[in-house]
Amino acid sequence: MGTSRNRSILEPKARSLCVRAGLCAGLALLAAGQQPAAEPPAAQVTDARIDRIDEEEPGAWLAYGRGYRQHRFSPLTQVNRDTVEDLGLVWMRRLDVRHRLQSSPIVVDGVIYYTDSWSVVSAVDADTGETIWTFDPETRRRYARWSCCGGPINRGVAVYKGRVYTATFDARLVAIDAATGQQVWDVDTADYPSRVPYTISGAPLAAAGKVFIGNSGSEWDHRGYVTAYDAETGEKEWRFFTVPGDPSKPFEHPELELAAETWNGEWWKLGGGGTVWNSITYDSDLHTVYVGVGNGTPWSREIRSPGGGDNLFLSSIVALHPDTGRMKWYYQTTPGDNWDYTATQDIVLADLVVDGIERKVVMQAPKNGFFYVLDRRDGELLRAYPYGAMNWATHVDMETGRPVENPDAVWEEKPQWMLPGNIGSHNWEPMAFDARSGLMYIPTHDVAFFFALPEDYAETGVYSPRERTMNLGVASGRYRAKLIEEAPPRPESKGFLKAFDPLTGETVWKVRNKSAQIGGVLATAGGLVFQGDGSGTFSAYDSDTGELLWDFDSYGSIIAPPVTYRIGNTQYVAVIVGAAFAYYDTGKMLVFSLGGDAELPVPPERDRAIPEQPAMSASVEELDQGGKLYHQFCASCHGYSARGYRNADLRIMSRAIHDSFQDVVRGGLLVDLGMDSFAEDLDETETELIRQYIISRANIDREAAETR
Ligand code: HEC
Repeated sequence: MGTSRNRSILEPKARSLCVRAGLCAGLALLAAGQQPAAEPPAAQVTDARIDRIDEEEPGAWLAYGRGYRQHRFSPLTQVNRDTVEDLGLVWMRRLDVRHRLQSSPIVVDGVIYYTDSWSVVSAVDADTGETIWTFDPETRRRYARWSCCGGPINRGVAVYKGRVYTATFDARLVAIDAATGQQVWDVDTADYPSRVPYTISGAPLAAAGKVFIGNSGSEWDHRGYVTAYDAETGEKEWRFFTVPGDPSKPFEHPELELAAETWNGEWWKLGGGGTVWNSITYDSDLHTVYVGVGNGTPWSREIRSPGGGDNLFLSSIVALHPDTGRMKWYYQTTPGDNWDYTATQDIVLADLVVDGIERKVVMQAPKNGFFYVLDRRDGELLRAYPYGAMNWATHVDMETGRPVENPDAVWEEKPQWMLPGNIGSHNWEPMAFDARSGLMYIPTHDVAFFFALPEDYAETGVYSPRERTMNLGVASGRYRAKLIEEAPPRPESKGFLKAFDPLTGETVWKVRNKSAQIGGVLATAGGLVFQGDGSGTFSAYDSDTGELLWDFDSYGSIIAPPVTYRIGNTQYVAVIVGAAFAYYDTGKMLVFSLGGDAELPVPPERDRAIPEQPAMSASVEELDQGGKLYHQFCASCHGYSARGYRNADLRIMSRAIHDSFQDVVRGGLLVDLGMDSFAEDLDETETELIRQYIISRANIDREAAETR
């Protein structure tokens, strides 16, 4: 339809005047009937401003979850059930990476701030898509190596008092001047010894004059902690460790004395885990920060803490005093975590009438499959209903507040498929809450994981941790494959969007996603719920019924949460899209509004057929060794059995790459793309054995494809 917006997306119109002149905040003040200060600096976001976002700035998106309460619900209604069919693309921006993209943009005073997976921050005119500034913190590319799950990730910035805060994958926290894009300070948050470097994937939280940040990758033998920095100076104010350290040393803070009583053995040698890799929520009513704590290292509790114990504060929500870091209360969702069931999922605040009593509550759907409603003043358990398929537990005992584990699903004794799997019924992909209906819109998946003890440990009772690789404490490689062959088949993997009532446990409606990989959620007063999925489809559903009202093929893979905002009279919907494996393409941000008719360039398809392979020379034993090394160092990014999923599929690499295999793997030829050198881990012969293993895998899969 030829409308006034009929223009190429590659030629954004001129930046709006107020942004160019730095006057937007001033105009907003004028509109509110106040005197603007002379030359107002950019992005003067305060606690009060975030608190009053619904009343005073319905068109803004000021913090990670829009406001401090993390509802991801917008009062905007221009795009609604009746108009959504006219929603179309208005502009797009390229992100120059092929990694997974999880960034949740922030929109303040007409500027949209977002990150890519290397924490490069872009400040862009939210109306036109024109660049205002970009800031590259020069994240050390080698750190991609220390990712839990296939490369670097970043979930976005915090914007506060004229600053933009970005946390980098190499574990720094950087403050940037919001007006100029110049760095103000840069602190190393990884100033604590660790076997391999700490990383950060989560967005920082800025509130109460501070910036709060955790870290990532429990699997890499880390000891988790969260740190508060002075927002102005970057000075460290306090640190809260989520698990106790070496018992021969004094406790860093009093809460660890309580925690230490719940651990056994020599957990500290592998760090213990408990990284705060995602959720930190500020409660301005009660002046509290809630921190979501991750899983244990290794996953197996019998290896981690022989003799049992709850292993505090793994898999817990911990309420802290923002000024001192002292604990107010904690609630452990999964005592003695044995399944990688983190409680790092987003923590949502609300005021609900529960059994006739008005309560201030926190709500969370952690990985373990139960949806929790707790009183935010003391952590009292109010509700815990299942929201996803599970076999690990039967229910939560409301008296003790503990899940009741299923006696038929003890995987140490009987290796088996567990639900939820290690990725959880719900992961970091944020949910959205409509306070009017009381419904939570949760992105969920039923994806089972096969749990079994490692072969050597099962035989000898002794666990031998490995250096410079993840220590999960579960079976791997051919031993694992054999156990899986003998077990009942894997339950089908499915992804859903569910409208869930936290107080009754009822799923009011659900829709099945096209892929088990699902995206974060946005709900609006227009009666819509937006969500993307791994197939690249971006959809809008009727929030009452789940009826599909609109969809759009992004030719990518969507896991990031969409946001919505208003500039002038136009409501926009924005979502960041990752590159799909099937195309030669990069990531991109897509921005939609009613009547938008820009065309999305369709990326060229990749030929995914496995080509004829170079000659293979290795013996069966050598291939076995190559396979072991491959799974130790390469599989986390290039896929199990060399069936590539996130990064390059090595079965289809070109002859040129085969020829320069040593340069890539040991020489660091592609380090800028996130492919580190493994020269410290592998010699030339071992590297060649890995290549031989890849060729053997490629031949097997190629033959299977031909005979199919
Ligand atoms: C932390 C993630 C990560 C790990 C671990 C990793 N790689 Fe990579 N690798 C990448 C990325 C990122 C690329 C860049 C290519 C892309 O994604 O498009 C890449 C590219 C490559 C390429 C070039 C492929 C092509 O067709 O261009 C080869 C070969 C390769 N890796 C081999 C290995 C081997 C062998 C190992 C184990 C010793 C390994 N990689 C471990 C992330 C990883």
